[in-house]
Amino acid sequence: MSDSELAPALDTSDFDSWNLEPQVLGWLESHCAKGAKILELGSGKSTRELSRFFKVIAIEEAADRCIYEKAQYVVAPFTNGWYHEHTIAPFLAEAFDAIIVDGPYAASAGRTAARLGFVRYVSRLKGTPHIIVDDLQRPFDFANFWIIWWHKRTKVEFFVAKGKYCAVISGTSHATMGNFIANIPIVCQLSASCLKLLFKNFSLYFKDGMEMFRGNRNR
Ligand SMILES: C[S@@+](CC[C@H](N)C(=O)[O-])C[C@H]1O[C@@H](n2cnc3c(N)ncnc32)[C@H](O)[C@@H]1O
Repeated sequence: MSDSELAPALDTSDFDSWNLEPQVLGWLESHCAKGAKILELGSGKSTRELSRFFKVIAIEEAADRCIYEKAQYVVAPFTNGWYHEHTIAPFLAEAFDAIIVDGPYAASAGRTAARLGFVRYVSRLKGTPHIIVDDLQRPFDFANFWIIWWHKRTKVEFFVAKGKYCAVISGTSHATMGNFIANIPIVCQLSASCLKLLFKNFSLYFKDGMEMFRGNRNR
């Protein structure tokens, strides 16, 4: 299905800072076939839109946020710094066309390292899913992106809007020198701003990082 066939049907008019950028949804629509299988960690309005075109399995920590009927939700409470392990493990063992890493909620103290839980699965993923990593302006999420990219080492595209950064790591396209060079400015910019944040809030990130390691051990 082409972009032009899908674009008018995609309704992102009520999207806000909680949601993926509309361009990211557009990327998925132009790179995944209709009915493709998508795993979304952290649900929201993008779940609503994507589930109109794709088979979406959404991992969600809050049962009262599982509200869009076309999506298949998996309620996995936040436990030991990550989604409840035994609940989500069977889903992460399935093959997907794309995986969206936009959860658990990780925007406040005690939670900032939460999404790093995903890296334990990266080397075990089935198939060659595209991987979308949101909120790269946050130090642990930027680190998460690097770890995931290192496993795949494929083409990356960045989407930036209103101070939010998102990376799309292709499941299938090889990294090229052109792609690498084009991404240098944004990677430098993100590295500088994440380092600045890290030093500014060192005790917060240190504490959350340690909690994440402790949670890892208890899982
Ligand atoms: C960044 S959101 C995920 C958003 C989703 N991927 C999207 O693009 O619509 C991460 C988590 O925050 C929570 N959340 C989502 N929307 C919210 C809202 N409007 N207000 C408060 N929490 C929200 C949910 O528990 C969700 O799993």
